[in-house]
Amino acid sequence: MSSLSVQTSIGNIKRKLDAFQSEEPTEKRQKIQLRAKSLHSDTSKTKKPVNTQQKAVVITSFEEYFGVKNIDIPELKDHEVLVENKFVGLNPIDWKGLKYKFGVYSFPWIQGRESAGVVSKVGSKVKGFKEGEEVFIASTAYRDIRTSTFQRYTVVDSELLWKLPTNITLEQGSALGVGLVTASSVLEEINGIVKDSEEDSKARSKKTVLVWGASSGVGSYVLQLLRVYGYGKIIAVASEKHRSHLLKLGATHCIDRFLSDEDLSKEVSKISDTGIDIGVDVVGKETSDKVIDLLNSSESKESKVFVGVVSKPSKDKDLDNILVRDVLIKRFHENKTYGSKLVEHTTDLLTKGKLYPQTNFKRYKGFEGIINGLRDLEKFGASNEKYVVEL
Ligand SMILES: NC(=O)c1ccc[n+]([C@@H]2O[C@H](COP(=O)([O-])OP(=O)(O)OC[C@H]3O[C@@H](n4cnc5c(N)ncnc54)[C@H](OP(=O)(O)O)[C@@H]3O)[C@@H](O)[C@H]2O)c1
Repeated sequence: MSSLSVQTSIGNIKRKLDAFQSEEPTEKRQKIQLRAKSLHSDTSKTKKPVNTQQKAVVITSFEEYFGVKNIDIPELKDHEVLVENKFVGLNPIDWKGLKYKFGVYSFPWIQGRESAGVVSKVGSKVKGFKEGEEVFIASTAYRDIRTSTFQRYTVVDSELLWKLPTNITLEQGSALGVGLVTASSVLEEINGIVKDSEEDSKARSKKTVLVWGASSGVGSYVLQLLRVYGYGKIIAVASEKHRSHLLKLGATHCIDRFLSDEDLSKEVSKISDTGIDIGVDVVGKETSDKVIDLLNSSESKESKVFVGVVSKPSKDKDLDNILVRDVLIKRFHENKTYGSKLVEHTTDLLTKGKLYPQTNFKRYKGFEGIINGLRDLEKFGASNEKYVVEL
């Protein structure tokens, strides 16, 4: 029933009630009163109070593209914080999930793995956060739709939430989470991000690491963390146009990604006589295989390590002398001791200016902006830049 016809019916019933209040038998009067009451509750159903509903970008089926809808604000548990998102960062996984039908667990579904905003509400057992504080989010709990960021409000475990350092803007903060967690996982696979003894740091200073896809969002944080941890030679494989930027971030050398395999291998030999000890790939299968070939041709005496952010090497590759590692970003929320240390440690690095956020942005506005941004990210990709949306 429309709101207007509900109001008209209430008016009619009220008039009837007034007219025969005194003479009508009690049963009939009660019936009319009940009908009036139910119509009143109908009006409250048609218009939900504003503070229980929010805007979100949702997937309603695998056959339709993203759309903007009003849905309920997620419910908060005792140890969680409700964050009002002001900016969100877009990632390839957001459109890939819909296109290739993965990571969507029910309909309507919400994507979005990072954002920055302000604390709107805190659970009863939360310590250390208060309403109005600026924060940023990395959401790795893919299956819990409450933690997705393409909605006005996102729920976050209070132990896994970053306070926004004062030297970082909300826009920059919105594009930090996924890159930081993924790059930290790469470092964890290489050496363990939380270990930092003198012996470890001496060993690290002798190692040569190659990062294929260093100009990607994830790659840029891998480079920075390698520098923070004192790795000796850090080789970025990327387009020439990104060279000066990557050298500033921490690469000690840069090799053009478009060189032939033979020329690229020669460039590596010029940088390190013995070749590389550690190889990281942030692009895909073909480039993972190239990194494996470089590791196999290396004369490194130490155990060689390969970390694939996107893909495992092909099955026909010789992996006998190489430790092959995947990236497990879900460790961030599944192992809270690890996750909260990561938050603490990276907050310290950001605050001290040892880690820099991305500042090269492709900007969009509003919830429709998320949809337009996702279309563009799929069509044009990112070139040493981050797609962000102001909500
Ligand atoms: N495993 C996980 O949990 C996890 C987590 C996060 C991300 N990922 C995945 O990691 C990948 C990177 O994500 P992102 O958001 O960091 O990517 P991104 O920023 O969109 O990456 C774009 C960059 O990659 C560079 N690139 C493209 N092809 C290359 C090639 N063949 N060789 C070297 N560089 C190349 C581009 O360089 P040009 O400018 O020269 O074109 C561009 O700067 C994505 O596939 C993403 O889905 C996985």
